[in-house]
Amino acid sequence: MASKLETPVLVQTQLFSEMEDTYKKTTDRTSTFVDNMKLPVHRWFRFSAGFSAEWVKEVVKSFKDNNQIVLFDPFAGSGTTVLAGEECGVKSYGIESHPFVVRVAKAKLLWYEDPLDFKNFATRVLTHARNLNEPSDQYNTLVDKCYSKDNLNELDKLKKSWIHYNDGSAISELTWIALVGILRATAAAGTAPWQYVLPRKVKKVNIRPYDAFKRQIDMMFDDMIYFQRYVKQPRGVIYEDDARTCSKIEDDSIDLIVTSPPYTNNYDYADATRLELSFFGEIKGWGDLQDKIRSHLIRSCSQHMISKNDDLNEILNDSNLTPIIDELRSVCEELGKERLLHGGKKNYHLMIAAYFSDLAKTWIALRRVCRDNSNICFVIGDSAPYGVHVPVDRWLGELAVAAGFKSYYFEKTRDRNIKWKNRKHKIPLHEGRLWIKG
Ligand SMILES: C[S@@+](CC[C@H](N)C(=O)[O-])C[C@H]1O[C@@H](n2cnc3c(N)ncnc32)[C@H](O)[C@@H]1O
Repeated sequence: MASKLETPVLVQTQLFSEMEDTYKKTTDRTSTFVDNMKLPVHRWFRFSAGFSAEWVKEVVKSFKDNNQIVLFDPFAGSGTTVLAGEECGVKSYGIESHPFVVRVAKAKLLWYEDPLDFKNFATRVLTHARNLNEPSDQYNTLVDKCYSKDNLNELDKLKKSWIHYNDGSAISELTWIALVGILRATAAAGTAPWQYVLPRKVKKVNIRPYDAFKRQIDMMFDDMIYFQRYVKQPRGVIYEDDARTCSKIEDDSIDLIVTSPPYTNNYDYADATRLELSFFGEIKGWGDLQDKIRSHLIRSCSQHMISKNDDLNEILNDSNLTPIIDELRSVCEELGKERLLHGGKKNYHLMIAAYFSDLAKTWIALRRVCRDNSNICFVIGDSAPYGVHVPVDRWLGELAVAAGFKSYYFEKTRDRNIKWKNRKHKIPLHEGRLWIKG
């Protein structure tokens, strides 16, 4: 059973400075989650904002050498870095501030629980659901639009049955993630590339929830056995915490950071989980996303910023921004003028200022938790809202040095915005790794 999951692990022991050539040669997929959908445990939840676990393992192994290191991801997302660290046998910490995403990541770290206990519990939930004879709960319009009546009825019973058995145990939490893991597959609605649900885009394949849940249980059971055979010791911890303070992480405790912060590309992490949050009744509608989710996150999309409450000068009046303030102010002012020429009037000028203010705080927190001579890799991309270029990697590098790190270097892995004819602007963009020496 587990052997069919065995994939040869790519081991590379290149040094920091030698990595560049290797990565440049390939069509780079290391900053995407796609390949994780084949990997045990990583595949329990598709998080489109995630990056490649195999790549993280290569990085960890290249720094691990013969010494034990402590790994950290301040923007842990669905837990890719922490799980990959466990696979490499290193102590790994992660923090994530999105309340739903952090719950997913924590549930994945429960792979060391007894697989049979999990299977029995989850099967009880399924059997009880099949026998329930109650009318379905009322759901919000989004949920109603996303599912056929029959599928929503089965999902509703699975949810009620899980609530009935939920005792707060680890096994119950694993069963929760099994249910979360089938919500997209059983929806009739398609999704945009970034997992925003699109109720009007109807999917052809429509899988029944009871069948999908059974398959998810079997897959998770196999993955738990696989991890227990090959990983053996759970060495990862994920906290709900804010990267701007890293309050749960001790001073001088970290040797290596592999992470990907939110990009300034207007991706709304709150909206991306709207279907799941709505199904579990954690939000009633789009309006709840601001208080319940966005308020916890780095301000990386224009939906975070409300012009009547946020003032550009006030945001820029942050002494942490001194190293980049002249360039930042000029970009924000240009964006302020540009918005008046566009229908949507998006608050990119406020968002860009707030983003760098948030990231400057993050570097200060990271300086506190990192040991001397630590290494940091930020997977990051630049952006050009309204066609105004924001040199994200250089500005982040400068803020890191101002926070007390020794040096930065950007390794480009791919070009973006060069292919499509209908793109909104013609500024060539790139994505890559910002390496920081500490
Ligand atoms: C690019 S994703 C990271 C994905 C991760 N590498 C993975 O493979 O799943 C960035 C993450 O940062 C989280 N985030 C945003 N603001 C944060 C904050 N202030 N503190 C901690 N995490 C935050 C977002 O919720 C999102 O999950």
